[in-house]
Amino acid sequence: MLIINAQNIGYTWPKSDTPALDIAGFQIEHGRALFLRGASGSGKSTLLGLLAGTLIVQSGSLQILDTELASLSPRNRDRFRANHIGIVFQKFNLIPFLTVEGNLRLAARFSEKPPRKIREKSEHLLAALNLDSAILQRRADRLSVGQQQRVAIARALINDPELLLADEPTSALDTDTRDTFMSLLMSIRDVSNCTMIFASHDRSLAKYFDIEIELSKLNRAQAEEASLV
Ligand SMILES: Nc1ncnc2c1ncn2[C@@H]1O[C@H](COP(=O)(O)OP(=O)(O)OP(=O)(O)O)[C@@H](O)[C@H]1O
Ligand SMILES: [Mg+2]
Repeated sequence: MLIINAQNIGYTWPKSDTPALDIAGFQIEHGRALFLRGASGSGKSTLLGLLAGTLIVQSGSLQILDTELASLSPRNRDRFRANHIGIVFQKFNLIPFLTVEGNLRLAARFSEKPPRKIREKSEHLLAALNLDSAILQRRADRLSVGQQQRVAIARALINDPELLLADEPTSALDTDTRDTFMSLLMSIRDVSNCTMIFASHDRSLAKYFDIEIELSKLNRAQAEEASLV
């Protein structure tokens, strides 16, 4: 089954006269772990934004799980994202003044699952991430960076998404913390059985993934710059 099916997708940022992305085709089967490698400015975050439906393709077709994201209303797109897509951001983006429980609940607000299932799922995730359940009552801005990372993974997986998107979540970490984070992320992904797209400029992370795509080879909008390298 294809989880992502993109054909001739293009995106130009407002007030820019050159496209940030122009991709002829991009298909990912369910269950794969893809490393999306690219230099700064190559379009990684733009592509992840399109896959998440926070940005909308301006040409071509982008289907996630056979759903054309551009054809959904904004509200239905938010719902679709909440139920099928988990996102881990570079700076984790937890809501600082909410507790961990508050952050997880907020992420689950569009879920079709009953609250009991969500509670069970969050307990299960925290245990898998080596976090004591007492952390649920702590404010997000009182957590260590390592704890924030793990809570960010729990938040991304709380709704059992089929697709997990990660945008350079390791860029601020030193080598040891990064390896620990990657091992944890990969082991929890194995258990949750979701497709993962992980964007980074850091080649040394490729070893964790089944497939690697160099974005400058895919993105025709960046082809000129890429040929200079
Ligand atoms: N909010 C924005 N408004 C206008 N242009 C943008 C915006 N975000 C990105 N761009 C432009 O789109 C292109 C791709 O940027 P993008 O952020 O997708 O790259 P990236 O690969 O994620 O880079 P980085 O590794 O630095 O995060 C760049 O030319 C950038 O200047
Ligand atoms: Mg980026």
